[in-house]
Amino acid sequence: MRTLVTYVSNTGNTKKVADAIFEELPEEKEIKEVSEVTEGLEGYDLVFVGFPINAFGPNPKAREFLEKHTAGFRIAIFITHGAPDEHDDVQTWMEKARRAAAGAEVVGVFNCQGEVDPAVVDFLLKSDDPKLREFGEAAPLTKGQPDESRLEKAREFARKVVDKL
Ligand SMILES: Cc1cc2nc3c(=O)[nH]c(=O)nc-3n(C[C@H](O)[C@H](O)[C@H](O)COP(=O)(O)O)c2cc1C
Repeated sequence: MRTLVTYVSNTGNTKKVADAIFEELPEEKEIKEVSEVTEGLEGYDLVFVGFPINAFGPNPKAREFLEKHTAGFRIAIFITHGAPDEHDDVQTWMEKARRAAAGAEVVGVFNCQGEVDPAVVDFLLKSDDPKLREFGEAAPLTKGQPDESRLEKAREFARKVVDKL
């Protein structure tokens, strides 16, 4: 089975999860940033696609990738976000990702918290929107995420997806 892990990561959190998933996969496997996947997904039997949530939805580069390249392929989606793992909004964000990947066979999804960049925290705290300010106030709790326990959950996710096929 030929597997690709591809991701967008602005501050390194999603890359940590991508690396953990990649470690766990059997050969043959490749890992690339989304911007490096220039030839499409032909030849891969399974593709893990990961990205951060930016402004209440999938990162725009990742969304475009899902829309343009994943139809007809078997994919597993992983996301990182500043909100807690079990936050209600996570389902909405995942649903947006699934919609962007309409036409793909989604064989698994994973989400976990990732540390929010201090520059973003500052922006959130100064916002007029109470919801954004609320995220800003909770942001210090994200420090150090994804930690080892979350990376282990990501490895477990990778094993489950592969075992299911
Ligand atoms: C511009 C921007 C917008 C963000 N918007 C959200 C958001 O709407 N909801 C959320 O939970 N986290 C949000 N975050 C936090 C990131 O999703 C989180 O820190 C993620 O782990 C970053 O992943 P990365 O290091 O791979 O880029 C935002 C971060 C940035 C920089």
